[in-house]
Amino acid sequence: MIDFKQTIATQISKQTDIPENEVYEWIEVPTDEKLGDFAFPCFRLAKIMKKAPQMIAEELKQKLTFENGMMKQINVVGGYLNFYIADEMYVKNVLTEIAESQENYGSSTIGKGKNIVIDYSSPNIAKPFHIGHLRSTVIGNALYKTHQFLGYHCIGINYLGDWGTQFGKLIEGYKRWGEEYNIEENPIDEITKIYVRINELAKEDETVLEACRDNFKKLEEGDEFCTKVWKHFRELSLKEFQRVYDLLNVQFDSWNGEAFYSDKMGEVVDILEKQNLLVESEGAKIVDLTEKNLTPCMIKKSNGSTTYETRDLAAILYRARTYDFDKALYLTSYEQILHFRQIFEVAKYLELDEKYTNGLVHVPFGMVQLKTGKMSTREGNIIKLEELLNEAISRVKAVIAEKNPELENQDEIAKKVGIGAVIFNDLYNSRIKDEVFDWDIMLNFNGETGPYMQYIYVRTKSLLEKAGYIPTIQEVDFTKLQDETSLKVIKLLYQFENIIQQSAEKYEPYIIARYLIDVAQAFSSFYNENKIICEEHSTQDARLYLTYATGLVLKTGAGLLGIEMPDKM
Ligand code: ARG
Repeated sequence: MIDFKQTIATQISKQTDIPENEVYEWIEVPTDEKLGDFAFPCFRLAKIMKKAPQMIAEELKQKLTFENGMMKQINVVGGYLNFYIADEMYVKNVLTEIAESQENYGSSTIGKGKNIVIDYSSPNIAKPFHIGHLRSTVIGNALYKTHQFLGYHCIGINYLGDWGTQFGKLIEGYKRWGEEYNIEENPIDEITKIYVRINELAKEDETVLEACRDNFKKLEEGDEFCTKVWKHFRELSLKEFQRVYDLLNVQFDSWNGEAFYSDKMGEVVDILEKQNLLVESEGAKIVDLTEKNLTPCMIKKSNGSTTYETRDLAAILYRARTYDFDKALYLTSYEQILHFRQIFEVAKYLELDEKYTNGLVHVPFGMVQLKTGKMSTREGNIIKLEELLNEAISRVKAVIAEKNPELENQDEIAKKVGIGAVIFNDLYNSRIKDEVFDWDIMLNFNGETGPYMQYIYVRTKSLLEKAGYIPTIQEVDFTKLQDETSLKVIKLLYQFENIIQQSAEKYEPYIIARYLIDVAQAFSSFYNENKIICEEHSTQDARLYLTYATGLVLKTGAGLLGIEMPDKM
C-alpha cells in the first residue's frame, strides 16, 4: 500500500536535505479534517534555513512534485503545509491493498526475527481464578496476537503461582482437616475454605504459623508427603483453570510456573553472593537497593526459604537463555510495580547481556471494581471468573430469546457475544485505569461495546448475503466512493496498520478497541446515508466492496483482541 505520509516525507526530504525519517516524524495528521490529511510544520526549518516558516512553506509548495494525481491540493496555512490526498487515490489504494492482503491486511514484518516473551494470566494454584486475573489474561492475549500479527515470534507463558509459602499453609490445613472437605468434587472452593481457616488459626497461634513455614521448607526440600499434597492441589486447580481458558479461547506456549524454578534459584544466589551483594538482615538475605531508591529485595527468608523475587530472577535467567528474548513483558496489576522495579534492578547484577536486562518491561494495569463496590479477594469472599463468564453468556442468551427467538445456533452465538462483551469491556480503556464492572454498560448493543462492534460486523455480512455476491476488486469503480461518509470509512481503514503498530508499541490494546468502534460508527453512518443494494449496478458494486472491506477489518481487529465474531446475531 502506498504510505502517503512516507511519500510526502520523501519529497520534502529531497528538497530540504533533512533526513527522511526526521521529516516523517514531523508530519502531523490534523485533528480538523478541513486542514488536510497530513500537515508539515515548517517552524522547525526556520532556524536551519534562516527564513520565515510561511516563506519556506510557499517555496516548498512550488517545488514538491507528486505522481499520478496523488495530491488533490497543497495549501499553505500559517507556517504549515497542508496536504490533501486525492479521494480516488485513497479509495483505490486502500481497497486494492485489502483485496490483495485479505486477512493479512494490517499485518507487517517489523517484528521479524525478534522474540518476545509474554508472561500473563499466571493465576495462583489453590486460589480462585478471580476477575483480577481476567485482565492479565485478556490484555496479555491481545498483546500476544498483536505482536504476532506484526511478525514477532511470541512466547506466551502462564507463570503459574504454584510455589511459595501459601503451600505451607495449605498443607498444614489439609493435614489437620483434609477429611472434612470435599476437595475432589469442588476443588478450589473447598481448598479456599481450608486456606481461609488455616489463615485465621495462624493469626491467633504463632506455632501454627511456624508449622506452615516449616511445611513449605519441607516442600522445597522434596519431602514426600508435602510434595504429594502439592501435586494433587496443582492438578485439581489446573483442571478448573482450563475451563476458564476454554471459555476465553486462550492458549499458552509454556506453563512453567514458579515451581519450575524451585531447583534453579541456586545460581541466582551464587552470582549475587560472589559479588558480595547479599546482605544479612534479621536473618534474611537481601540485596540492598537504597542507591536506586528502592526498598531491599529479599532473596532468602530467615528460615532459608526462597521468595517470589528469587523465582522471578531465576526465570529471567532461564528465559534469556531459552528464548533469547528481545523483550520480556509482564502483565500484572499496578500493585506489583515495586516488585518488578526491584527484580529488574537486581537482574542487572546477574551477568546477563544488556540486551536482556534492557528488554524487561512491566506492563501494569488497574484494578477491577464492581459497580456495587470494591472487589474483595480476601477472606473467601470472591467472585469467580468462571461464574462471571457464564453469567455473561446467559444474559446474552436471554436477550436473544427475547429479540430474535428464531436465530439458529443460539448457544454458540451467545458465547461469542457474551465473552466478547467481557473482553471488549476490559480492553476499551487505557489499561492503567481502574475498571468498573457493569453489566448494563458492557452488554449495551448500542454503546461503545463488543456487542455493538459485532452487530455492525453481522450487518456487513447480511448485506453481502442479501446481495448474493462479493464483487471483485476489478469491478469496483473507485470514483463511486467519494462522498463524505464513504471516504470517512476508507480513511479509517487506511489507518489500520498504523493503529496496530501504535497499540503494540505502547502495549495498549485500547487503541485497537477504540479504533474498531470508530470504524463501526463510520460504517453505520455510511450505511444510513447510502443505499447499498441499489439500482445502479456499479454503485452497488463499489458500496458492497466497501462493506466487505469493513467487515474484514472489523473481524481481523477483533481477532487481535481475542474476540470472535458471530456471523449472525
Ligand atoms: N501469580 C502472580 C499473582 O497472581 C502473578 C505472577 C506475575 N508474573 C511474574 N513473573 N511475577 O499475583
